[in-house]
Amino acid sequence: MSAAVPALANAPLDAHRLRADFPILARPVHGRPLVYLDSAASAQKPRRAIAAESRVYEREYANVHRGVHHLSQAATGRFEAARERVRRFLNAASASEILWVRGGTEGINLVAQSWGRSALGAGDEILVSTLEHHANIVPWQLLAREKGLVVRAIPIRDDGQIDMAAYRALLRPSVKLVALTAMSNALGIVTPAAEMIRLAHEAGARVMLDGCQAASHAAIDVQALDCDFFVFSGHKLYGPTGIGVLYGKAALLEAMPPWQGGGEMIARVSLEKGTSFKGIPHRFEAGTPAIAQAIALHAALDYVEEVGLERIACHEAMLLDYATRRLAALPGVAIHGSHPDKAAILSFTMAGAHPHDVGTIVDREGVAVRVGHHCAQPTMERFGLAATVRASFALYNTTDDVDRLVAALEKVRELLP
Ligand code: ALA
Repeated sequence: MSAAVPALANAPLDAHRLRADFPILARPVHGRPLVYLDSAASAQKPRRAIAAESRVYEREYANVHRGVHHLSQAATGRFEAARERVRRFLNAASASEILWVRGGTEGINLVAQSWGRSALGAGDEILVSTLEHHANIVPWQLLAREKGLVVRAIPIRDDGQIDMAAYRALLRPSVKLVALTAMSNALGIVTPAAEMIRLAHEAGARVMLDGCQAASHAAIDVQALDCDFFVFSGHKLYGPTGIGVLYGKAALLEAMPPWQGGGEMIARVSLEKGTSFKGIPHRFEAGTPAIAQAIALHAALDYVEEVGLERIACHEAMLLDYATRRLAALPGVAIHGSHPDKAAILSFTMAGAHPHDVGTIVDREGVAVRVGHHCAQPTMERFGLAATVRASFALYNTTDDVDRLVAALEKVRELLP
């Protein structure tokens, strides 16, 4: 346990203390103390995860599942222990349901290309919510083009939440998959995923739940949610880039053909008799995996759970509420996505100021935000927007950070009256 992690399980999170666990937060940007409000794009890393990755390369590095020698066995043990750590994090029934991928995007593409290509046929429908990141839209559109599938949008209401009446009406027998985010990366809206999964199953459809944003803001229980597939990326969960997780129900994964072919996913290869494949999860893990990154993700998940996802969620809700009140009081600021089920993300525009100009000016004040369409153009289009400014919060942000954002936005107003 990090020295900076408060000992009392129910005490509020002390973000000022936790900041010390994240070395990058101590560096200035443009001569100003850094205010990092872009964790929805990628979270900063605690010292413990950085050290875990370095330690692999300094002390325990070798390829996994391939060697009888000590280092390979040690690395394999740590690598598979990380898989078990992810299983516990998601409350999956078995570690064989946890597949290593490069990130959420690769996980969704794997499902589209393996499950989708084998299980779906011409005329089948896929419902995609209007809140999806492009990563949970484009793989389905590519598959639809190839297989003659129909992709339909689940509309959202003016407050940014899923239109449940429209969703119910769309759930016809031809619908075979619902592609849904647990939390919108563009607006922060938390969707009623459990209810939507229940309805999808009643209608005979599977659900691909994108947890890339949600997983760092609330505890996930894939068995309670009953989702068929779930993805998250390590880098948004305070872990390394290049590592992510695809969860799939064992019965589905068992029936899915391999996606990529190569070493370590085979049982036997014969030029004459063809190739037979390993069982799950290794059948889906061709080639040398991201070994050090998986082990560092283990450390990041330990850190997050020691801080406590419930406490993180409470802290971020307090920040979101404070930021919403402060920004709403600024003349010309419009906040997009007003539904109360919302977490850690504030997406807004300023009258008369292009989001890119806002982002550039606040950056000069040391405040990092994301501007643009956030890889969610259908969400933006729904609100008639090309882009927004997005401030996103993490366990290390404080109300001082919000105050700095507000001061920087006042500067924007001075420069762009
Ligand atoms: N998907 C990431 C974001 O929302 C990159 O910024």
